[in-house]
Amino acid sequence: MQEHEAPHRPVMVRQVVELLGPRPGGVYVDATVGAGGHARALLEREPSVRIVGLDRDPEALAVAARRLEAWRDRVVLLRADFSELEAKLRDLGLQRVDGILFDLGVSSLQLDTPGRGFTYQVDEAPLDMRMDPALPLTAADLLNRLPKERLARIFREYGEERWASRIAAFVVEARRRQPLERAGDLVACIKAAVPAAARRTGGHPARRVFQALRIAVNDELGQLERALPQAMRALREGGRLVVISFHSLEDRRVKEALRRAQSAGEPVPMRVLTRKPLTPDAAEAARNPRARSARLRAAERLAGPDRAASTKGVR
Ligand SMILES: C[S@@+](CC[C@H](N)C(=O)[O-])C[C@H]1O[C@@H](n2cnc3c(N)ncnc32)[C@H](O)[C@@H]1O
Repeated sequence: MQEHEAPHRPVMVRQVVELLGPRPGGVYVDATVGAGGHARALLEREPSVRIVGLDRDPEALAVAARRLEAWRDRVVLLRADFSELEAKLRDLGLQRVDGILFDLGVSSLQLDTPGRGFTYQVDEAPLDMRMDPALPLTAADLLNRLPKERLARIFREYGEERWASRIAAFVVEARRRQPLERAGDLVACIKAAVPAAARRTGGHPARRVFQALRIAVNDELGQLERALPQAMRALREGGRLVVISFHSLEDRRVKEALRRAQSAGEPVPMRVLTRKPLTPDAAEAARNPRARSARLRAAERLAGPDRAASTKGVR
């Protein structure tokens, strides 16, 4: 594949393919198919695999369909939240699969299209940030409607933003005059709220608040927490789960879910394959800035009972 032609450069592809180890005729779920880069690499490695690709973004699915055209008989693409994983597999008549990949967060396709509203770099960009355009609330809706304390909590918890309360206060003050609609409206509040000395460190002053809003709009952490147990349950014995996350809030949840599976067999017994998360090598980090914060964790399903099924209705 020619990387420069890709609308989104897949991260840590070699490690993903090695860990999933696609076997002839195997079924692999790409829970975040995006522009189809990882799915394509799996198909190139083992053309007889079947891929189920999920994404909540219809634009991503259209790109994936184009890029996976050559394998269309082996690929099913579905518009779905990955928190619906088990239901979607059931609909396809699939009981167990050989491997599942989550490559979390937004794609370059989404980030680099100002109209999608993920960017703080373009003042005129709308404050949207919905990965799925059918979601009911945009970032602007949250900014213009939530009480100050809720906004501050979002900025603090999802953005680890030190100046969360001050920024929330400035947003509430600004929206009294006029609703916030464009990225520039929010960036102006952030710049006014964060003291000049603090603005000189830690990258763009809006980065953390934009991340926080994106997580809130798309319920990213809730989606992940609901999806991970489903993914583990859907694996056959020996099947593998690979998760790439891009910030510590995600990585912590992945680490804890895998640890629980390894130590308590919950929801199914798993063996963690990455004692520490894998990171991209220096060459990839230099080539692809988006890869720099990637953390990859992987685990393998072991023999043993499915706890979630046996305790159903007890809790
Ligand atoms: C980092 S990109 C994946 C890129 C892909 N691996 C590739 O190689 O092109 C993440 C994708 O996951 C999708 N996504 C994020 N959260 C999702 C969720 N909860 N359910 C379904 N798709 C989701 C996004 O819409 C985005 O297209």
